Amino acid sequence: MTKLWGGRFQKSAEQWVDEFGASIGFDQTLVIEDLDGSIAHVQMLGDCNILPSDDVQAILGGLVQLKKLALENQLDFIVANEDIHLNLEKMLIDLIGPVGGKLHTGRSRNDQVATDMHLFLKNRVGEIIELIDLFQQTLVTQAEMHIETLAPGYTHLQRAQPISFAHHLMAYFWMLERDKDRFKDSMKRIDISPLGAGALAGTTFPIDRQIAANYLGFANVYENSMDAVSDRDFIIEFLSNSSMMMAHLSRFAEEIILWSSSEFNFIELDDSFSTGSSIMPQKKNPDMAELIRGKTGRVYGNLMGLLTVIKGLPLAYNKDMQEDKEGMFDTVHTIVGSLKIFEGMVRTMVVHTERLHNTVHKDFSNATELADYLAAKGLPFREAHEVTGKLVFLCIQRGYFLLDLPIEDLRKASDLIESDIYDVLSPLAAVRRRNSLGGTGFDQVKIQIAEAKTRLA
Ligand code: ARG
Repeated sequence: MTKLWGGRFQKSAEQWVDEFGASIGFDQTLVIEDLDGSIAHVQMLGDCNILPSDDVQAILGGLVQLKKLALENQLDFIVANEDIHLNLEKMLIDLIGPVGGKLHTGRSRNDQVATDMHLFLKNRVGEIIELIDLFQQTLVTQAEMHIETLAPGYTHLQRAQPISFAHHLMAYFWMLERDKDRFKDSMKRIDISPLGAGALAGTTFPIDRQIAANYLGFANVYENSMDAVSDRDFIIEFLSNSSMMMAHLSRFAEEIILWSSSEFNFIELDDSFSTGSSIMPQKKNPDMAELIRGKTGRVYGNLMGLLTVIKGLPLAYNKDMQEDKEGMFDTVHTIVGSLKIFEGMVRTMVVHTERLHNTVHKDFSNATELADYLAAKGLPFREAHEVTGKLVFLCIQRGYFLLDLPIEDLRKASDLIESDIYDVLSPLAAVRRRNSLGGTGFDQVKIQIAEAKTRLA
């Protein structure tokens, strides 16, 4: 089997060496992008009179036929042809004869592979943005049902202040909103065509890179051919944006896991997003949330992997860069799956409103209310804090909560306290009164949800 680049070689590598160097095992994922890139390239060669139109028509016919076969999963790739580019070129020549060998005029695999990767990411990032949007809509829908559902808010995983459960859910909406923004912004750097950069230095043929870019729907072309073929920053940025988003999903997953435990019992996940144990019949495990938390590791790993691959490479293309692919494919696959699963999990989860309501009535998360009440009456906040702390201690000794204390005990601690304190200490009032911009007060949460809907629209 002769190699397409075999001219200067006296003997061929052994099969196991070829196997080590080949990327066809994974870069066949780029088959459609590669064919689209070739279709645009050959059309451009025709437009610029670099190839006669008969040749262009023949090549186009072959490429279109290959694309049809690719969509039907009918192409058989082989390791001997190394990668997706050489496999397809060989298939084209087999299909339409030697004229197929003209396709590679004024082009290199280096600009070809970079073009494929840009096209691939452009499409996938578009889909990912839509999936984030979908998940955000689900979060808003759940949030709207729980504006007045009281829940404990935590710091240090200790009860801190009561909140609206919707407020907690909406926090993730805004994280995802920034994630989506980052993906959208990255489009500027993905939507650039490297095609026509050649191996590294451009080409002697009178090509028109803009025409090829237009065929492919790219917004811009790279200004420097060496940069075009040798940087992978657009992929690293994608991996970085994915890592950030997975950090958010992982934190949310952790909360889902906590909330669905018997200890918290704030939510119940739907059976369709849970699994059982092979030995303990009572178990219902939040496997999907755990898996998303776990998959965050591989997404970070893919980011670190490519950053490390690129760091010492001299310009321009180096074979090391073939290592840019698997991590990227894996990341796309992982985050698409994670977004879909999370959306379904949140859409179908049952929130235990009663249980949430009860928890905030059985804790000291209204202590800040008492301190604020005293401070509002002129007592310096530090002293108000001290007075309240002592009352909390008194309650703990007696097995009470603040609302259980008789007025006499409260007034003994401070004569600024009057009977209206019982209203102030109610968790409902505590939440309602947090009406500062972005706070958990019901009115603020409603404003926030309205703003979220405008963003989604
Ligand atoms: N399979 C190669 C890759 O993925 C394609 C580019 C090869 N270019 C080269 N000069 N060997 O990076």
